[in-house]
Amino acid sequence: VLAHSESPSGILIKGGKVVNEDCSVIGDVYIENGKIVEVGLNLQIPKRVRVIDATDKLVIPGGIDTHTHMELAFMGTRAVDDFHIGTKAALAGGTTMILDFVIPQKGKSLLEAHDRWRETADPKVCCDYSLHVAVTWWSDKVKKEMETLAREKGVNSFKMFMAYKDVFMLQDSELYAAFAQCKEVGAIAQVHAENGDLIAEGAKKMLSMGITGPEGHELCRPEEVEAEATQRAITIAHAVNCPLYVVHVMSKSAAKVVSNARRDGRVVFGEPIAAGLGTDGTHCWHKDWAHAAGFVMGPPLRPDPSTPGYLMDLLANDDLSVTGTDNCTFSVCQKALGKDDFTKIPNGVNGVEDRMSVIWEKGVHSGKMDENRFVAVTSSNAAKIFNFYPQKGRIAKNSDADVVIWDPRMTRKISAKTHHQAVDYNIFEGMECHGVPVITISRGKVVYEDGQLKVSPGHGQFIHRKPFSEFVYKRIKQREQVRKPTAVTRKPYEGHLKSPTMQPRSYPLHKQQVFSQRQPSLE
Ligand code: URP
Ligand code: ZN
Ligand code: ZN
Repeated sequence: VLAHSESPSGILIKGGKVVNEDCSVIGDVYIENGKIVEVGLNLQIPKRVRVIDATDKLVIPGGIDTHTHMELAFMGTRAVDDFHIGTKAALAGGTTMILDFVIPQKGKSLLEAHDRWRETADPKVCCDYSLHVAVTWWSDKVKKEMETLAREKGVNSFKMFMAYKDVFMLQDSELYAAFAQCKEVGAIAQVHAENGDLIAEGAKKMLSMGITGPEGHELCRPEEVEAEATQRAITIAHAVNCPLYVVHVMSKSAAKVVSNARRDGRVVFGEPIAAGLGTDGTHCWHKDWAHAAGFVMGPPLRPDPSTPGYLMDLLANDDLSVTGTDNCTFSVCQKALGKDDFTKIPNGVNGVEDRMSVIWEKGVHSGKMDENRFVAVTSSNAAKIFNFYPQKGRIAKNSDADVVIWDPRMTRKISAKTHHQAVDYNIFEGMECHGVPVITISRGKVVYEDGQLKVSPGHGQFIHRKPFSEFVYKRIKQREQVRKPTAVTRKPYEGHLKSPTMQPRSYPLHKQQVFSQRQPSLE
């Protein structure tokens, strides 16, 4: 398939089907110096170049995983896939960019945590990456640091937790303040939508009933705990006209809430993950404790086996917008921290390597979505929402040369025995997937081919993202202009005035504000 010349200065991908989110065309793609230089029919490149024959293959934008936690210190241990191994595995699966999370501890500086995470990731990453920053507490300093991060550090997305009580969770008034600041600085607010108070109560109840195994994790936080928080986040975001992105939508109930909100015209995006699209929570009831614990993540994979298919239907129809993985991997011995108490099982699953194949298999091969929608949900929509489109997420002149040669007919069986991740099990073990990345090109370099990775730590670069993504903010800005509440003009009241008999109750200022967008006309 491959025709080599020695030390080629560029790469010519010949005769593949070039797939973007809006169309597919047979053509050639010429790459030089990390960029796509030309896309067209029968390109004649006079120089010495490497030629890759892509006949009968698809040429797609490299996948963008919107949600990873490489080497995250969490629940008393540290995720085993670090920025080096995790991003190599991503490339082997056809993903050429990840968006990871900076998660500062409560009371700690967001900026310092961000800078530390950059120092950790920069020398290790094998593919490009960018960072979301979590807001885990609230103060004037946090507010200022959000502005600095958005203006100077290339961060245009902040994640707020409604779960992990006393660790990361924010109260509603803090969510309100954080969302308002996101809007102010042109960022998108992200939420981990689960009711942390209900989870804490539910966990106590399950343990008191003698349910200590992994099934207790879902039983203490059923679907409505996710759906309620999702609805609450949407309501709060709407109150401040802030765009909202719901990370890891895991249940049919929460997905319906997102879908209904979109139909009501809210600027909200839902992110299902590979785990939720490819497997389900019945595994947490498995008799083998280690098997069951391997599927524990938050929000939980749902025991309703119709969930993955339902989430995929919504993803295909644009009710859900984009896909990540929440890749946060703990090996079995780490999961065993919770062997006697499910609340101590480190939460997280794999996905960064297998997301593309799982979505192709369950989405495209199944007939739910076409190849163009596949590109939309695996790369372009992420690039649009997080404001680096068409630098990435598109095969076009001047775009970054993050390109995958995808064989839609080839199959592979997912297994921990063959995967490139550090974690010692795989939640998709045994899944046969159509759709295989045969070559991955990152920053104009072939980094994966013939099943071999050829990439060094530090090959990837940090991608700086500007605030006020047009894809997200055009509607927000217009609404800000035309949907301002206005006072009714009326004559002053001149009737009898009863003097107060009691001191008026003091009430927090923000609760007095009115945010009605549909004010009745009383004229
Ligand atoms: O179980 C999960 N999701 N672990 C990572 C932390 C988070 O909430 O995303
Ligand atoms: Zn989360
Ligand atoms: Zn996460």
